[in-house]
Amino acid sequence: MRKRKVGIITGGGDCPGLNTVIDSLVKSLKNEYEIYGFIKSYEGMLNGEYIVLDSAFTGLHKFMGGTILKSVNQGNFSGKTKDGQKVALKPEVLKQTLKTYNELGLEALVVLGGDGTLSVAFQLQQAGLNIIGVPKSIDNDVFGTELTFGFLTAVEIAKEALDKLETTARSHERVMILEVMGRNSGWIGLYSGLAGGANVILIPEIPYDFEKIYEFINSRRALDKTHTLIVISEGATRKGGSKVYSKTGGLSSENLLGGAGELLASELNHRKIDSRATRLGHVQRGGSPTGYDRILSIQMGMAAADMVVKKQYNFMVSFQEGKISKTNLEFAVKDVKKVNPESSLIVSSKKMGVFYGD
Ligand code: F6P
Repeated sequence: MRKRKVGIITGGGDCPGLNTVIDSLVKSLKNEYEIYGFIKSYEGMLNGEYIVLDSAFTGLHKFMGGTILKSVNQGNFSGKTKDGQKVALKPEVLKQTLKTYNELGLEALVVLGGDGTLSVAFQLQQAGLNIIGVPKSIDNDVFGTELTFGFLTAVEIAKEALDKLETTARSHERVMILEVMGRNSGWIGLYSGLAGGANVILIPEIPYDFEKIYEFINSRRALDKTHTLIVISEGATRKGGSKVYSKTGGLSSENLLGGAGELLASELNHRKIDSRATRLGHVQRGGSPTGYDRILSIQMGMAAADMVVKKQYNFMVSFQEGKISKTNLEFAVKDVKKVNPESSLIVSSKKMGVFYGD
């Protein structure tokens, strides 16, 4: 019997759990479907570069970090400009993508990606492709889902870094600052900060007041708390200040944030508070997923497979109120999910003494 066909791509930055989702989808569909894994995200659809995925192969790599399909966040399918504005695909790119999809006889394309990759998927959906999205991101900033796979692994890595920095902070009576990723959302900062016992958590959603941080550190010292642990999200800004970039105008589709931690450390050193900053960087995206991220990735892969079989197209798998469900793709790409400064986690932790710089 001839098998039906479905495509899969991984787009944007790599992330723990991608290979777990791929394996779960392949194993769930393998009896009825041939699964075409396109290489280097959508680019594989432009140049016809793909592998037909075999469950023995995906099974070998299921808990490995990165993506066996490779990924890019630049090139012909950059869904955004350098400053994060969405852009339309070029007509010739769209035409060739449709051609590959139709010539292979695919029933649907499963897209594992974050906001940018899923926005491109929505454009492909509007051009006639059947799309099923799966929300991937260490940043946890995809709208329409409470959790993305990869996020909790990044939190775990940042939490461990904080545990290590705390020992130096305590021994040297210093301020130790950890800068974490997350683009313009503070999820990694908030969760790792609380899990790692940070005294100060600075996130993009709450612009900080430098003078208040200075006073907070001094007030701790007056109480004999001679060290302070600070987590700062890469997208955090001073009140009235602007984002700190490590690279603008480079190859990446978007300008790269980085340096907010170093900037804060230099300002504190300038005011005679001995401070050091560590930028955790891509360490947060590497390695294998944690136990819970593996479960989430397996569940999301199974849900996407179920949607393929039931022909439930133009949805994204989502996680809502503790359960796997689905949400409209159009809704999912409408916005970026941000931390609510009024959320109970923030309000309650403020009462415990965590300082958010405001
Ligand atoms: O979206 C994931 C992410 O790791 C962000 O947290 C970070 O700002 C960005 O990607 C880094 O991108 P690149 O891998 O291009 O340096």
